[in-house]
Amino acid sequence: MRMTTSDPSNADLPIGVFDSGVGGLTVLRALRAQLPNESTIYLGDSARVPYGTKSTDFLVGQGVKLLVIACNTASALAIDQLAARHNPLPVVGVVEPGAAAAVAATRGHRHLVLATESTVRHHAYARAIRALDPSADVQEVGCSLLVALAEEGWTEGAIAESIARKYVEPALGATGRTAPDSVVLGCTHFPLLEGPIRAAVGAGPVIVDSATTTAEHVGRLLEASGARRQSTSPPAHRLIATDGPARFAALGSRFLAEHVDEADVEIVDL
Ligand code: DGL
Repeated sequence: MRMTTSDPSNADLPIGVFDSGVGGLTVLRALRAQLPNESTIYLGDSARVPYGTKSTDFLVGQGVKLLVIACNTASALAIDQLAARHNPLPVVGVVEPGAAAAVAATRGHRHLVLATESTVRHHAYARAIRALDPSADVQEVGCSLLVALAEEGWTEGAIAESIARKYVEPALGATGRTAPDSVVLGCTHFPLLEGPIRAAVGAGPVIVDSATTTAEHVGRLLEASGARRQSTSPPAHRLIATDGPARFAALGSRFLAEHVDEADVEIVDL
């Protein structure tokens, strides 16, 4: 796994977190929970979906010590270009930590990855898992409707469960296959749907959440580089969007699992 170092003299700078919308707030939530003394700047560039280099240029220009690409699709499509563009700043995507956690979570070799169509088309998870376990059997399923369900807030009950079942049942029932050992939530929106996904896949598989595993990876990286924030003053958190502060605040409150006030969302025109 990519493991660049963060400069210890930048230890008090915030962690930059980029997403193409609100989904990356699940990654921000995990970062804040695991690294409570770190400051953060989150940019949800919903006006420029997806993956603009401009957005990460803006974040880096704010002064950050590490950049998290908190979107599976952007990580799948652009992590190498973004890492090269911002070198020597450490750039962490969500795919590699999620893949590593799936391999580490089970002694079995069968993994079911639930992601967006774009992430599936790029086979980013299959490649990252097989790089660590060449004998892995990886099935990737594009689950676009789950993104919509998470944004609508329909994250439990009969509708969410039957849609989750519709996506996973063909994968579970494919000829010659048995239940997977791990189910990877390969989209930032899917931790909100863990309940219906668990109901659909049954009790057997380990569910791996790439938001949590990415936050753990960032913690290890900062620790190894001596770049954890030292200041004892409270950390600062900025939320920035490129349009729609009301929608960002409403959805953001659910994705971040804490109240986001519209007035707390800075709007920038990139
Ligand atoms: N943030 C994206 C991801 O993790 C999902 C949302 C979207 O594509 O609109 O893949």
